[in-house]
Amino acid sequence: MNFPQELQKVIESYALKLSLKDVRLASEELTKRYRIKKEKDFFLTQEQVAAYLIVRFPATYAAIAAAMTRVQGNIESYLDLGSGPGTGAWVVKELFPAVKKNIAIERNRSMVELGKFLEKQVGHSAIEWQLEDVLRAKSFPQSDMISCCYFLNEVDLKERNQLLKKAWEACQKTFVIVEPGTMEGYRTVISARDFLIGCGGFTVAPCPHDRPCPMEKGDWCHFPQRVERTFYHRYVKKGSLPFEDEKFSYVVISKEKFEPCKARILNSPMKRSGHTIFRLCKEEGIVEETISKKMGEKYLIAKKKKAGDCL
Ligand SMILES: C[S@@+](CC[C@H](N)C(=O)[O-])C[C@H]1O[C@@H](n2cnc3c(N)ncnc32)[C@H](O)[C@@H]1O
Repeated sequence: MNFPQELQKVIESYALKLSLKDVRLASEELTKRYRIKKEKDFFLTQEQVAAYLIVRFPATYAAIAAAMTRVQGNIESYLDLGSGPGTGAWVVKELFPAVKKNIAIERNRSMVELGKFLEKQVGHSAIEWQLEDVLRAKSFPQSDMISCCYFLNEVDLKERNQLLKKAWEACQKTFVIVEPGTMEGYRTVISARDFLIGCGGFTVAPCPHDRPCPMEKGDWCHFPQRVERTFYHRYVKKGSLPFEDEKFSYVVISKEKFEPCKARILNSPMKRSGHTIFRLCKEEGIVEETISKKMGEKYLIAKKKKAGDCL
C-alpha cells in the first residue's frame, strides 16, 4: 500500500519551510535521543518533527499497513496504544473505511500535537486523541481492533503483560502488534503472542499455527517492506537508493478462529533456473520446499510470491 499522497504533500510543505541541513542534523539527534527510552515527554523541535515525518513515518506506516492487511473480518472501531502521530489511524483510514470510532492514546504532547496538525492540514478529523499514559488507564474503550505498533518495546517488561491483559479485555475482534524487525523486536512480539494465546487468542498471521515459534536460536522472524524514498528522505538519511526495506516483526491475533494460511514464506524465495526454493513456516515447523517448472500452474503462482506471503 502506497503512502498517501495527501500526507506526503503536507510533509514536503512542512520541510520546505526549514533548512534541510538542520533537518538532517535533527534526524541524527532524534535517533540518539530516541534510544533513551526513559525520556517520557520530550519536546520535538520543528526540525525534529520534519525529520520524523520524512524518515520514520512512511516506514512505520508501510510496516503497519503490511501487518493490517492480514486482519480478517469486519472492523468498525479501532484503538491505537502509543499511537505517536496516529500512524495506525492513518493506515486504518485507508484499509478499513467502515471504522466509525478511531481512538489514539499517546502520552507525548508533541506527538499528539503533530497528529492533530496532520489531520488539520489534510482536512480530516476522525481521530479521537487521548493524551494519556496507557499504563495508568484502568481500562480501555471496547474496540474491534487494538494495536500496539513500535510501542511495546517502550514498556517495561514487568508491565507489558498487565497492559496486554487490559487491552485484550477491551479487544472485540483483532489485536495487532508490530515491532522493528530486530531480534529484540521479534522477542517482544513472540512474548506478546504467547501471552495473548494464553488469554484465549488465535494467531491469524504470520504464524500458520498457535504452537510455540519454531525459529532456531539466533534466528528471528521478520519481513521486509519496501518503502519508496523521496528526495527529502535520501537527503536527510544521506542515502542514494530510491527505496529502503523497512524490516518489521508482527503478529495478528484474533478472538475467533480463522482458517490459517498453510505455509508462510519466511525469506525471499531463492530463484534458480527452472525452480524456486522456499523457506516456509508450517504447522510442523520450518521446512524448505522446492517448486519446479515441471509443477506447472503451482510454479506459475509460486514464482510471484515474496517473503511474508502465504504459499
Ligand atoms: C516509536 S513511537 C511509535 C508511534 C506509532 N505507534 C508508530 O508506529 O508510528 C512509540 C510511541 O509510544 C509512546 N509511548 C510510550 N510509552 C507510552 C505510554 N506508557 N503511554 C502512552 N504512550 C506511550 C511514545 O511517546 C511514542 O510516541
